[in-house]
Amino acid sequence: MSDNKVLEGMKIPEHVAIIMDGNGRWAKKRMLPRNMGHVQGAKTVEQICEDADSVGIKYLTVYAFSTENWSRPEKEVNAIMKLLRNYLKDCIKRANSNNMKVRVIGERSRLSEDIREKIEELEEASKNNTGLNFTIALNYGSKDEITRAVKRLAKDCVDGTADVDKIDEAMISGYLDTAGIPDPDLLIRTSGEERLSNYLLWQLAYAEFYFTDVLWPDFNKDELIKAIEKYNGRDRRYGGVNEE
Ligand code: IPE
Ligand code: IPE
Ligand code: MG
Repeated sequence: MSDNKVLEGMKIPEHVAIIMDGNGRWAKKRMLPRNMGHVQGAKTVEQICEDADSVGIKYLTVYAFSTENWSRPEKEVNAIMKLLRNYLKDCIKRANSNNMKVRVIGERSRLSEDIREKIEELEEASKNNTGLNFTIALNYGSKDEITRAVKRLAKDCVDGTADVDKIDEAMISGYLDTAGIPDPDLLIRTSGEERLSNYLLWQLAYAEFYFTDVLWPDFNKDELIKAIEKYNGRDRRYGGVNEE
């Protein structure tokens, strides 16, 4: 197990967002069916929640299934949904033993009813936990999220609950699925791809990006620590200038 000592004196990002990519390639390299990559990837998620908590990260948000992922072969989508059912069931137990507060973002109506029920159960069961804030993006797409937010805001303006002249950035953030969650400080994407794939476009406006060739099922605490070390070398200027 990695030693947290290497992180002594370092800034720990409060919120880390992850695009967990490369499950399929991990399986292919081992001549296994793609689904085995997802099975292994789900195990990595469990471990990384513990690791994130142990290094002092307060918020962890992972991209589990995008609005675009429905375009995959039906067999793969079904296998992912089956895995998700087991994962959610298990997560209820883990959330309570790890004191983790779990939230799911994304559009739920396209998910099957039993999955929606499990999500509600999980959120309800963990809502008073005070440890890691773990958010799972499921049937999530940033453009979809923003579109739904704009619709709700427009309706509220029409019926008088909101005032057009009072719309500001904070108000818009409050209409997003991530309402109440601070913006990510660090985005990690595994598997060598360097794109956002419709993930948290608004929320990542000022995040630092860290890309690694490591495939998601191989990601571990040492890799997380490497990302935090890189993050510590970055100069976050937010449009200003830092005196030398
Ligand atoms: C990420 O791994 C998991 C999901 C998108 C559900 P991929 O399945 O995209 O793996 P690659 O990119 O094909 O290797
Ligand atoms: C992004 O990965 C979505 C998730 C990790 C859930 P993809 O593998 O679907 O992204 P693209 O297709 O390479 O952009
Ligand atoms: Mg991929």
